[in-house]
This record gives sequence, C-alpha cells and structure tokens, in this order.
Amino acid sequence: MTNAFISGTGSYVPPRVVTNADLAKDYGIDTTHEWIVQRTGIEERRFSEPGVMTSDLALEASKQALEAAGLVPTDLDMILFATLSPDMCFPGTAVFLQRKLGLCEGETPKFVGAMDIRNQCSGFLYGLGTATSMVKSGACKHVLVVGAETHSAAIDMTTRGRTVSTLFGDGAGAFVVSATDEDRGIRSWHVGADGRFAEKLCMRVWDIAKRPYVDLDEEGNGKVPPEMLWPHMDGKVVFRHAIERMCGALLQACWANGVELKDVDLFCFHQANKRINEYVANTMGIPPEKVLSNIERYGNTTAATIPLLVAEAERTGRLERGMKVAMVAFGSGFTWGSALVDW
Ligand code: UT7
Repeated sequence: MTNAFISGTGSYVPPRVVTNADLAKDYGIDTTHEWIVQRTGIEERRFSEPGVMTSDLALEASKQALEAAGLVPTDLDMILFATLSPDMCFPGTAVFLQRKLGLCEGETPKFVGAMDIRNQCSGFLYGLGTATSMVKSGACKHVLVVGAETHSAAIDMTTRGRTVSTLFGDGAGAFVVSATDEDRGIRSWHVGADGRFAEKLCMRVWDIAKRPYVDLDEEGNGKVPPEMLWPHMDGKVVFRHAIERMCGALLQACWANGVELKDVDLFCFHQANKRINEYVANTMGIPPEKVLSNIERYGNTTAATIPLLVAEAERTGRLERGMKVAMVAFGSGFTWGSALVDW
C-alpha cells in the first residue's frame, strides 16, 4: 500500500523583529508588553519589509523543504498554497510560487498544478489532507504544501485595531508530502467547518452584492472604510470555539487510529493564543512538555504556524523519526482540522 509521508520541511521568517514595546513606541498603539504577554503569550513577531510578497516568504520555506527532501522543484507534481494574505486578489499565490521556483523556465519547464487554499488558520491542514489523498491515490508522487502570510501589510496598526494587530506576524512554512511503501507517514486527516460563525473573524474589503463592489469617489478611485478594510474579530467567541473544536479534532485524530492521547509524542497546535493551547492541553491531560510553542517569537502566522513549528522542531532535534505527532488547528470560518503522523 502506498503511504504519504512528510519527506521534507522548511520554514522562513523575515529578519525584522517587532517587539510588543515596539508596537507602542513605533506605531503609537495604546498597549503594553504585559497585556499582550498575559493575554496571548506573544513577546515579539516578525514583519517583512515593503516590497516583500507572501510568495517570497513561501519560496524560502519551499526551497528548504525541497532540499531536506532531496528533491528539486521539477520533482513536484502539485503545489498547494494556504494563505489569507495572498500576493493579489487573483490569481492565487501558488502560481507566483510556481514561477519563482523556476518551474516555468529552462529547457524542461514543468507546468505542475498550482492551487490556493482559503481556510485561514486551518488552511495548512486542509492542504496537508488534500496532499495526502493525492499521494495515496497515486495521482501525485510529491506535493509541496505551503502556508505563508504577510499580515504586516493588512492589519490596522492603530489603537483602533489593537485587538487584532497585536496578535499577528509574518512567516512561512512548507512540507513536501511524498509517496512511500514504508509503514509510516500521515495516518489520517480530518477537517470541519461551521459557517454560522463566518463573520466572527473576517476581513471584508469589498461587498460583492454592491455595484460596483467598492464605493467610488468623483475621480473613480475606490474608497474602503476602515471597518471593511481591516480584519475584524470577536475574540471571546473565537477563543471559546477554538478550545472546543481543537479538543474535538484531536480526539477524532486519535480515535481514527486507535491511539490514546498518552501515545502521542508531540502536539503541534495552531499558534493563535498560548492560553488556548494551555486550555486544550489541560482539558485533555496533556503534559506541557509535549506541546510545542513558538507563539512567543512569531505571534499568530495563521496558515504558516504549524509547518513553521514542525520545521523548527525538526531542525532543533525536538522531532525525531519514529515519533507520533498530532497537528491541530482552528480559525476563521470557523474551520478546523487535525492530522496524525508517524514521523
Ligand atoms: O488564529 C485565529 C483564531 N484566533 C484566535 O483564536 C484568537 C482568539 N481570541 C483571543 O485570543 C482573545 O480573545 C484576544 C487576545 C483577542 C483578546 O483577549 P481578551 O482577554 O478576550 O480581551 P478582550 O477582547 O475582552 O479585551 C479586554 C480589554 C478591553 O478593554 P475594556 O473594554 O475592558 O476596557 C480591550 O479594549 O483589553 C483591551 N484590549 C487591549 N489592551 C491592550 C484589547 N486588545 C488590547 C491590546 N492591548 N492589544
């Protein structure tokens, strides 16, 4: 039987560190380091410079993942790109990554499929599940799954937007999912959604029911009011549902494989708020030392959090061959997902 395993991981964060103190000092946001650390666990995040695009961050993570897998871009059969901060409204960012990987050039271009996934914080696990099925079905041998975000360009960096803007950061992570005959790899994946809460964490920008979809001034330039322009979140509702759904998705992953929670070696939870992950761990009786965390350094990088976390754990030796790894995410939509992997 063909299994799907993670043959390479990669991550990239832009070099510029923005501390909590910098948010107050440089941007004039009425916040404090103490408030942000106490409510979220975040100490700093990375912001990329103007001119850098989401596909640029993804490219660095992808190159690392390909190298780790011992592959070159032309070995890929498909690219799946999860992001909520795409390079453009359309086309999707996967085609820009495909081009930047050099797949459209040279003597033997390879015009592999390139698809975007729009599931926010859960997008990477939706992508990982899709890649797993593509590989197990025999349709693809190697699939690149990327999660990358440039939040710094599209958050309200004023006191008005502080509930959202103090949480998010830029970054990218990538996995190569490959076929193997060995008894290992991605054992199961589950995803879910509850559209009743779609507006609880959203960024509207336009209203497609209007003609045209944004208001125009006398010169024909588009005008977008702040409540449409920036992301909006009902933090408490999101928080509550995140705990409930993440616990459920984790149990689903274990039940599907006949595995008990104590058999799992590492838990890779989405990094939205350290308190959410502590609640999940406490509720499920998971020892803190089995729960990976990097929210302190990167904040919430939405689709990028899980591959970033896993890639760093592999590089630092925390994640080793033979370990049982659970990945769980929750985010806007609401959407959620889980995967259980024998590394
Ligand atoms: O990745 C997608 C999923 N996202 C999440 O899972 C996020 C879920 N939600 C959360 O993490 C939390 O709800 C937040 C961190 C967003 C907010 O924490 P909270 O404990 O729910 O705070 P709150 O929104 O109820 O705000 C409490 C107070 C308010 O002031 P008043 O009305 O009590 O005077 C806020 O205006 O804290 C104020 N506040 C801030 N103060 C300083 C909100 N944001 C900030 C800030 N700095 N950054």
